[in-house]
Amino acid sequence: MRLTVIGTGYLGATHAACMAELGHEVVGVDVDADKVAALEAGRVPFHEPRLAGLVARHTAGGRLRFTSSYEEAGAFGQVHFVCVGTPQRRDGDGADLTCVESAFDAIARHARKGALLVGKSTVPVGTAAGLAARHGRVEVAWNPEFLREGFAVVDTLRADRLVFGVRTARAERLLRTVYASPLGAGTPLVVTDFATAELVKTAANSFLATKISFINAMAEVCEAAGGDVRKLSEALGCDDRIGRAFLRAGVGFGGGCLPKDLRAFAHRAAELGVDLGLLRQVDAINMRRRDRVIALARELCGGTVLGARVAVLGAAFKPDSDDIRDSPALNVAARLDLDGADVTVYDPAAMDNARKAFPLLGYALSVDEALRGAELVLHLTEWPQFREVDPRRAAALVYRPRIVDGRGVLDAARWTAAGWRFRALGAPVPAGEGEER
Ligand code: UGA
Repeated sequence: MRLTVIGTGYLGATHAACMAELGHEVVGVDVDADKVAALEAGRVPFHEPRLAGLVARHTAGGRLRFTSSYEEAGAFGQVHFVCVGTPQRRDGDGADLTCVESAFDAIARHARKGALLVGKSTVPVGTAAGLAARHGRVEVAWNPEFLREGFAVVDTLRADRLVFGVRTARAERLLRTVYASPLGAGTPLVVTDFATAELVKTAANSFLATKISFINAMAEVCEAAGGDVRKLSEALGCDDRIGRAFLRAGVGFGGGCLPKDLRAFAHRAAELGVDLGLLRQVDAINMRRRDRVIALARELCGGTVLGARVAVLGAAFKPDSDDIRDSPALNVAARLDLDGADVTVYDPAAMDNARKAFPLLGYALSVDEALRGAELVLHLTEWPQFREVDPRRAAALVYRPRIVDGRGVLDAARWTAAGWRFRALGAPVPAGEGEER
C-alpha cells in the first residue's frame, strides 16, 4: 500500500521505516527540513538501535522517502499515519494538541478522496471524535502505539497487540491490509471505538507507571524498615499475576511519555468528572525518589554537597536512548549544581542533548574522566558499561570512594569490598562497608 507517516520523531521515523520493512511504499513527512534531509540521506538524527539500518536500506531501495510537502504526501497516500508529539502544556498538566491538530488539518486539506487518516499519537480521550467532526471529508481512525524507545523497531515489527479504533468496516479493512503481515503472524488485534482506543494507550502507560511507583513506594518502606527492595521485587515478580516487568525500584521513571501521559490522563479524567487521584500519588512517589537521591548525596558528603565534585553517570532517561526529556539523572544533576556541587556528567549517547538543555553542567568524555577526582559518584542511568566498571579501578580514580546506585543494579558487596561507601535506594547500608580514606 501507499502510506504516509506525518512526524518523523522516535515514533514516526520508526513507524515509517517499519512500514517499508513490511513491504509498503512509504513517504515520511516532517516540517523540519533538516530532519527530512538527514532521513532522505539515510541518516537517523537520534539514537535508536536498528533504526538507522532500516532507514538506510529502504531509502536506498526506493521504498521509503521523506518530504516536507503535505501536498505531495496527500497526493501519494491511501492511509496517512499521524505520529507527531503531544507534550505537556506549558500552562498545566493537560496535553498540548497543537501539533496533532495542525498535522490533521494539513493532511486533510491535501488528502485524496477516500483516504484514511490514522492517529497514532497519545492523546486525551475524545480527541479522535473531535478530529473526525472537524474533518468530515476524510475518514479518521485511531491506532495507538506502544513502542518503547531503545526497542522501537522490534516493538513495531513484533507488536504484542494492535488496537484499531474505527467507526466503519472500511477503516478496519484498510488497517487490516496495512498490518496484514503481523496479523498473519498471530499478533492479537482489538477492534474498538475511538474512545477505548485512545484510553488503551493512556491506561497502559499509567499502569506501567503505577507498577514502578508501587515498587518505589515499597523501597521507601524498605528504607524505613531495613528491608531490601531488590529481593522484595524478585520475590513479588515470581507471582505470575504480578510479573517481573516494571518492578525495578530506583530513581524512578522519566522520558517523554510516562510522566506527561500520567498527568494528562489525570487532567482529562478530572475534566470528565472522574477523580484519578491514584495517578497523582504515582507521580508524587516518582518525584520523591529524585529527592531521595539528593538526600543520600548530601548524607554521603557530610551534610552538604556545596563545593563537592560529583560525577553523574547517565543523562538519558533510560539506557539505549539519547532522549533526555524529563530525565531523572539530569534533574538530580541540575539540582545538585544549584546546591553548589561541581557536577560532571557522562552518558554514552545523550551528551549532545544534555549539553544543549543544561549548558552549565560539566561534561566528561568518558567514565574515567567523569570519575577522576570525584568525591561522590551517582549512578543514575543503567547503561551496561556502567555496570561493568571495576570498583577497584574506579576507587583509584576518585578522590573519595562514595557512590549512590540510583538504579539498583550494582553489586553492593563488590563495591564495598573495594572500599566504597555504597548506598542504593530501598536497600540497607551494606554490612562491612569500607572505611573512608
Ligand atoms: C513507554 C512505554 O513503556 C511504551 O509502551 C509506550 O509506547 C511509550 O512509553 C510511549 O508512550 O510512547 P518509554 O518511555 O520508551 O516507553 O520507556 P520505558 O521503557 O517504559 O521506561 C520509562 C521509564 O521508566 C524509564 O525512565 C525507566 O528507567 C523507568 N523504569 C522502567 C523504571 O524505573 N523501573 C522499571 O522497572 C521500568
